[in-house]
Amino acid sequence: MKDELKRGFASDNNAGIHPEVLKAMQDANIGHCIAYGDDIYTQNAIAKIKEHFGEDIDVYFMFNGTGSNVLALKMLTESYNSIICAETAHINVDECGAPEKFTGCKLLSVPTKNGKLTIEKIKYHMHDFGFEHHSQPKVISIAQVTEMGTVYTQNEIKEITDYAHENGMFIHMDGARLCNAAVSLDISLREITADVGVDVLSLGLTKNGAMNAEAIIFFNQKMSDDFKYYRKQGMQLASKMRFMAVQFETLLSNDLWKKNAEHANKMAKILAKSVAEFPQIRITQEVQANGIFAIVPSNIIPRLQEEFFFYMWDEHKSEVRWMTSFDTQLEDIEKFVLRLKKLLK
Ligand SMILES: Cc1ncc(COP(=O)(O)O)c(C=O)c1O
Repeated sequence: MKDELKRGFASDNNAGIHPEVLKAMQDANIGHCIAYGDDIYTQNAIAKIKEHFGEDIDVYFMFNGTGSNVLALKMLTESYNSIICAETAHINVDECGAPEKFTGCKLLSVPTKNGKLTIEKIKYHMHDFGFEHHSQPKVISIAQVTEMGTVYTQNEIKEITDYAHENGMFIHMDGARLCNAAVSLDISLREITADVGVDVLSLGLTKNGAMNAEAIIFFNQKMSDDFKYYRKQGMQLASKMRFMAVQFETLLSNDLWKKNAEHANKMAKILAKSVAEFPQIRITQEVQANGIFAIVPSNIIPRLQEEFFFYMWDEHKSEVRWMTSFDTQLEDIEKFVLRLKKLLK
């Protein structure tokens, strides 16, 4: 393998496509079928998604997670609204202001230690309803898994969704790593979304082994009445949709999503356990899914990155992020830990 193609711990997005997914795309590459989703592959994929999330849902495939988050939020808001989220939320820090640009809304962020919102934290922004000088809070957006690698329990989500609904607000969930959260809690995808009151989900399977399988799922079908127009205006309507559809169908069949997420989470636990042996390294978040956050002596980071690429998370604290994925191998971890050991000597 070329050096620059070596598996590292930078991101589950850096991994390739799961071979079964690639094969399904290859198998779908025959003949012609109607474009823009009016095809049997898309119908089958939506039926499969309904097996996991329930019958009363509306599903729209999207090109990427950012588009999925942005258009989900657009659908739930008017431009005078605000969206409450964690300071570390992808929508707040990693989407180049797209949520603000396309919704016109203000993002009201909350500092958290572990990426999770709580009612106490949300309350900080819950004021001035009906006051025309203040943006009107309408959506609480949570990420499952959070950007800090932590996982909300069902009860934690339910508390937030109940609170949102009592206050006439909606819950959006960024589920870019929903599969990792479900296996971490050992429950179904439905049990951490529809069953605990999530209104709209941005479901991502790209990090789980797809090439590009992202979707918005509306658990309340009334909310999606005009969504098809917004998706087209939002430039997220795929013409050759069958190739997205088969990715969903493959990953959501025969528990492939589960196997991939279980593997990634297991690798993260092993990596975390191995690095925890070094007294110079401090793991800063509980490892509940496939991300590890750790404070590492700053002098060794560039040298470690030369061989195993990963991102600095917080330069001021010398905190890094290591991600595992469906294709992480034990030998990747062994080599990484060996190198770490040498550098820390
Ligand atoms: C929490 C979270 N949400 C959403 C996304 C989706 O982003 P993209 O637009 O790159 O598909 C990512 C990607 O890294 C993510 O980590």
